[in-house]
Amino acid sequence: MRWLFAVSVLVSAQSFNRDLQPVFRQHCYACHAANVKMGSLDVETMDGLLRGGNRGTILVPGKSAESRLYLTLTGALEPVMPMGDDKLTAAELVVVKNWIDNGARPDPGGLAWRGSTLAAGYGAEIRLFNITGQLLRKIAAQVGTVRAVALSADGTYVAAKGPELQRIFEAATGREVQAQPLEFHSSRTALSPNGQRRATMRDDGSVTFEDVR
Ligand code: HEC
Repeated sequence: MRWLFAVSVLVSAQSFNRDLQPVFRQHCYACHAANVKMGSLDVETMDGLLRGGNRGTILVPGKSAESRLYLTLTGALEPVMPMGDDKLTAAELVVVKNWIDNGARPDPGGLAWRGSTLAAGYGAEIRLFNITGQLLRKIAAQVGTVRAVALSADGTYVAAKGPELQRIFEAATGREVQAQPLEFHSSRTALSPNGQRRATMRDDGSVTFEDVR
């Protein structure tokens, strides 16, 4: 079983929620999560990992060899983690290493399509596109890592939901507004309301558009 697991992590891109968090849940949450932050470190969320701990940054995206998050797990740097007798398996170390070396990416935050506007959530941003795939605007969502997005029926308002907060903005200006709660979507594909175009978000957050036949 372990061998199969090691092979599968080599061929597929690592996902923050699917691959990394189960490892951290098992080995780290008892001491580093939203409710208990030993060393001032929370590894439960992307935002927590980016914030780092008492000694500052622990993550250098693309470079596991420079990331204290990884080096404390291999024992190359003190304090060796996880603290205590627990150790990560070789396969779990590969998951952490690959996720960092592939850019320490957040998971895609979903697509919503209403009217002629497509909203895509990725990292800390909402990105708005028109039906041809042209990027219209980026909005700093201020909710931490965006997990889902929503658009009002006519595309006037766009909303983002993070681990704790959600905020609503005017799509045309990016100004934050108070409005009716919207229905959130976290899927990686969306169909245009006229059914003629399909948008798909890749692991790196880029969005591709194609005609539906
Ligand atoms: C039993 C508790 C415990 C567990 C489990 C644990 N840690 Fe820690 N960790 C600590 C403590 C306490 C510190 C602060 C030590 C210090 O400052 O010298 C720390 C510090 C760290 C630091 C350094 C933070 C900084 O800024 O200096 C990193 C990185 C880290 N832990 C990662 C992890 C990861 C990843 C896991 C899970 C694989 C983990 N730890 C599991 C208790 C734990």
